[in-house]
Amino acid sequence: MISWSRDALPFLLFRLLAVAILSQRHTFMVAADGGGWQLLQRSIGVSAMHMQLLHNDRVIIFDRTDFGKSNLSLPGGKCRRDPNDQALKVDCTAHSVEFDVATNTFRPLMVLTDTWCSSGSVMPDGRLVQTGGFNDGGQKVRVMEPCGGGCDWNEIGDELAAPRWYATNQLLPDGRQIVIGGRRQFNYEFYPKSTKAPGAYSLPFLAQTTDPNLENNLYPFVHLNVDGNLFMFANNRAILFDYVRNKVVRTYPALGGDPRNYPSSGSSVLLPLDLQMAKVEVEVLVCGGAPKGSYVAASKGNFVGALGTCGRIKINDPNPNWAIETMPKRRVMGDMMLLPNGDVLLINGAGAGTAGWEFGRGPVLNPVVYHPAGPEGKRFELQNPTTIPRMYHSTAILLRDGRVLVGGSNPHVGYSFSGVLFPTELSLEAFSPSYLDPGNSDLRPKIQAPASQAQLKYGQKFAVVFTVAGSLAQNAVSVTIVAPPFTTHAYSMNQRLLVIGGKKVAAAAGKNTFSVEAVAPASATLAPSGYYLLFVVHQMVPSEGIWIKID
Ligand SMILES: *[C@@H]1O[C@H](CO)[C@@H](O)[C@H](O)[C@H]1NC(C)=O
Repeated sequence: MISWSRDALPFLLFRLLAVAILSQRHTFMVAADGGGWQLLQRSIGVSAMHMQLLHNDRVIIFDRTDFGKSNLSLPGGKCRRDPNDQALKVDCTAHSVEFDVATNTFRPLMVLTDTWCSSGSVMPDGRLVQTGGFNDGGQKVRVMEPCGGGCDWNEIGDELAAPRWYATNQLLPDGRQIVIGGRRQFNYEFYPKSTKAPGAYSLPFLAQTTDPNLENNLYPFVHLNVDGNLFMFANNRAILFDYVRNKVVRTYPALGGDPRNYPSSGSSVLLPLDLQMAKVEVEVLVCGGAPKGSYVAASKGNFVGALGTCGRIKINDPNPNWAIETMPKRRVMGDMMLLPNGDVLLINGAGAGTAGWEFGRGPVLNPVVYHPAGPEGKRFELQNPTTIPRMYHSTAILLRDGRVLVGGSNPHVGYSFSGVLFPTELSLEAFSPSYLDPGNSDLRPKIQAPASQAQLKYGQKFAVVFTVAGSLAQNAVSVTIVAPPFTTHAYSMNQRLLVIGGKKVAAAAGKNTFSVEAVAPASATLAPSGYYLLFVVHQMVPSEGIWIKID
């Protein structure tokens, strides 16, 4: 906390002046200090357009097959022969890799059809089931198993009822995925399909939110509500949708007049669900985007400043309304992610223009942390910048150790490494939020039990045993679980954080050892079955996570 004592005033004025001079080009005068950056890989050979962390701490990364040759060869002289491919009929390069976080190494994987602008979700058994894409990939379903290193993509054919390009997937309480929308697809379907109803179901909301020729409603933001319905946000509008009865349950007020979905790509998260409360508050946060008309303006060389606002809404409130907050920096194509301590990180993206080839300008190099529980007007904290612009087709995901993996950026039709604005990025960086600062090591919990990969039943009470090197503040402990999302195009599908413990903390056998009570979520509606990262958080500093499986 900064205390605004009278003695400090001259210093503060000086500091403000210095910041003002140093940041003339920035909209707000905020000193950036928090978090650090590390370059992990100068090149992984492909551009990280889509990312998913699996429960073996390997990240599945892929871009698209019609980019031309990547910078990574397929192993063993393998080549992909695809008469339908629009770039290369024979391509001996990889367009996907498996990145091993523990060893900071990667190996090439082979996708067989075009995965461009596709979607996916991890299933309850831990497999990544990825759907759609472009051209011959539009109706494909592909599976990637979490394995020790030998496996590869397995394509199971044209399983989708409709081609899905820019669709959104969400894991459902019954263990299926719902696949929603995509270009010119105003409908949804399920995977796996039932033999009784294998087709697609119409969803007029997607037709109603399409701006002619521009769309602005692709990759709709979808969040699973605690009542089992889906909150869906497209363009500037939102509904609560009952996908079982194909019925709009409720319509929310519009979030201003400007679009927030692709290509005016803002982002969205479901804020942490505190299951310890008698009534769980469900809030959605939508940030950034591009003012109406930005896409057309960009096509004429006029790069309009991105949206600088976020809207926050209590979706189960009897009279829900968007509370508007202003970010320290305007942002389009930014990723939003839930950190283990319940804060939200905004990272990547641009300050002007839109998504789409060559349409972004003014990279936003500083991430921003948003404290959902902070007082209004004081929730944003600007973080230290990277040096690498992460524009269109960049991604970011949370890792088990609390770092954030950042990759991708390619606003060009092919791989383009020189003579262009924002060359194709093949690098991977890690952003370490300030909770990883060495100065916090005395606060940092270390989980002793349960063991990683532990299985939990719905509603199961269990103890998390942990140590803390320094002294423990008993009233500042929480246990959180985070579902690892599928991330692409500034949106993380399936992202979900639940607070499942922290109220009862007691000393346990052993030096500096404590036990905190936690309760697994009561139902699959609160938390669909599958693998979650579990963290103990102490004074906002999270432990390294462990994997748990809820069944
Ligand atoms: C990728 O390969 C191209 C062609 O060999 C080369 O010019 C470029 O520097 C490489 N880029 C990276 C990031 O490795």
